[in-house]
Amino acid sequence: MYPSGTLRIHELTAEERAVYATLKPERLPDHVAIIMDGNGRWAGHRSLKRFLGHQQGAKSVQLVTEAASRIGLPWLTLYAFSLENNLRRPRAEVNFLMRLLKSYLESNLQRMMDNNVRIRYIGRTHELPPEVQEKMIWAAEATASNTGTTLTLALNYGGRSEIVDAFRALASEMKFKHIYTAHMPDPDLLIRTSGEMRISNYLLWQIAYTEIYVTERLWPDFRGIHLLEAIADFQRRERRYGGLTEGSGEVDEETERIRIAAS
Ligand code: FPP
Repeated sequence: MYPSGTLRIHELTAEERAVYATLKPERLPDHVAIIMDGNGRWAGHRSLKRFLGHQQGAKSVQLVTEAASRIGLPWLTLYAFSLENNLRRPRAEVNFLMRLLKSYLESNLQRMMDNNVRIRYIGRTHELPPEVQEKMIWAAEATASNTGTTLTLALNYGGRSEIVDAFRALASEMKFKHIYTAHMPDPDLLIRTSGEMRISNYLLWQIAYTEIYVTERLWPDFRGIHLLEAIADFQRRERRYGGLTEGSGEVDEETERIRIAAS
């Protein structure tokens, strides 16, 4: 439950208030984590370059954060830049995202203060460009005493590297040779029957990049044909491991630089 003193429902838009009115206040989540996906497609659907999708995505970050702070959500964690994005995307796009992050922090700091939002980060942030790290530290320090929503940006973050880093911090040598499934490949497809959208503590490490298929069918009704249907669905997916697919839109670094400077 949130401390009711921090609620600013009156600041929600009329549409947000209408949805908020349908929620059970005693069952609000304490922590919401978001995988922010689809910037490139958003731009593609409008025949725009990918960077405009990222820019629009930054706007969503701010509006969602402000809504979270108005309803008193204590923890909001956004997947802003994955380790795989860093390794697999074209350099021009990575550079653009770094500049966008820097300018985002700069231009939204006052709004973060007005909304009592505290900014923090998780991930291998020490590998980001020094000028980006400086801006990140600046924003975190400036908002450190805010007491509303904690906005955590996952930057250069990967779930596996987090576990590796945590183990490395505990022991100088870390090996996963003792994991139960060490002799098998990681699952390509995870099927869940009965419609529940949960992982339930199953193969957490191994499913980092597994495709998930959820069916309403109850397990006792599940037969070979349903396995085949799941595999057919799996085969229609595009597995990108955090990278880009062909035809995801052009990246033009110079145009993007100008665009950021102007925004
Ligand atoms: C996925 O879109 C999104 C990202 C690469 C990360 C999220 C980044 C933002 C929302 C931009 C700004 C964030 C901050 C904190 C300033 P995609 O490129 O994978 O889209 P696609 O799958 O449609 O190609």
